[in-house]
Amino acid sequence: MSFKDTTTRLSRTTVALHWIIAVGFMVMLAFGLYLEAMPRSPEKGVLMGMHKSVGLIILGLAALRILWRLANGMPQPVGRDGKGARIVAGAVHILLLIGTVMMPVSGIMMATAYGTGLDIFGWELVAATRGTEGFVANEALGGRAGALHGLGAWVMIGAIVLHVAAAIKHHSVSRDGTLRRMMGRSVGA
Ligand code: HEM
Ligand code: HEM
Repeated sequence: MSFKDTTTRLSRTTVALHWIIAVGFMVMLAFGLYLEAMPRSPEKGVLMGMHKSVGLIILGLAALRILWRLANGMPQPVGRDGKGARIVAGAVHILLLIGTVMMPVSGIMMATAYGTGLDIFGWELVAATRGTEGFVANEALGGRAGALHGLGAWVMIGAIVLHVAAAIKHHSVSRDGTLRRMMGRSVGA
């Protein structure tokens, strides 16, 4: 069993967290952009609840993953990249790790500012206060958090395009084991 990441093989934890978060996050980006374009309606409210619930679950997994990375370090490169490419790859990986936390955190800030509450598929974490007596929305916080959420989405889309292009290049052009290792396979050192 592999509990630690090595140059020839990544742990199941690393592989599972990578793919669950990767798929979940990319779906959430598309889902969020779809919601943004949608006019106000009761259906939008239901979908927004799903967006928030899934985002909170991703936050939990992303936080666990960062602890896992702090305990294990970042995976050592498999390929024969030069120093520059390694630095760029490392910086993009860190940006991706931060973004998977910052997107849900800015979402939570929006929900807090507008008093819309937080729940995970009906399991209430913070009750909605909007519409209750004495509640005043924090428009300044909500607006800034919303801008961060919207801008963050595009920064993440850019980083993911670069990241996926690099993965394809490693697999199809350099033909090293970078992608296969993230698929959980053992690769030559
Ligand atoms: C994986 C995490 C998440 C991703 C990738 C994500 C992505 C997005 C994107 C791309 C948008 C559209 C851009 C925009 O309107 O600014 C959006 C909108 C939004 N998201 Fe998220 N989001 C995530 C988590 C959350 C969480 C946890 C919450 C709240 C608890 C949240 C609340 C919202 C709200 C309130 C909107 C505005 C919808 C509208 O424009 O009417 N998001 N999200
Ligand atoms: C189809 C989409 C994706 C592919 C093919 C892919 C592929 C890969 C590969 C091959 C690695 C290993 C890099 C190395 O060995 O140095 C990796 C690492 C990584 N990827 Fe992705 N990735 C995808 C989507 C994503 C997304 C959406 C995120 C974040 C939102 C992400 C975040 C990371 C991070 C943080 C690492 C560093 C190692 C780790 O913490 O797991 N990836 N990815």
